Amino acid sequence: MERTLSIVKPDGVKKNILGEVIRRFQKSGIRIAAIKMIHLSKAEAEGFYAVHKERPFFSSLTDFMSSGPCVVMVLEGEDVIRKNRELMGATNPEEAAVGTIRKDFAASIEQNAVHGSDAPETAAFEISYFFNALEIH
Ligand code: CMP
Repeated sequence: MERTLSIVKPDGVKKNILGEVIRRFQKSGIRIAAIKMIHLSKAEAEGFYAVHKERPFFSSLTDFMSSGPCVVMVLEGEDVIRKNRELMGATNPEEAAVGTIRKDFAASIEQNAVHGSDAPETAAFEISYFFNALEIH
């Protein structure tokens, strides 16, 4: 059993696709172990994406991530890190496979509707960024 962090980003919340994203997770046998809606400050978005701080898109990305509420979730299941990334599709929606969340709902490489952890170590950091042990069921 594995856990990963999923975020429905501000563009996804505004587009009202939260239910559809959750439906896709649950239809794939993924269990939601924790969920909440939060509006990140710029500093909180910078902390979450600290690994990207040298990238040219860092400032714009953290502006976007703090522009409105997000929904953060802990997903649980066998091989869930890979399964979630498969459901999301490629970072750039133009490269995302047909039927993926980003292909269907993302507007651009930055405003790409969802985030998912890419490895067990990042999942552990990202889950603990938003949830304490008592909030994960
Ligand atoms: P995410 O999977 O959350 O991980 C880092 C985020 O940075 C990514 O999704 C995009 O939102 C954003 N990102 C990645 N590459 C670029 C890029 N070339 N230009 C703008 N934003 C990017």
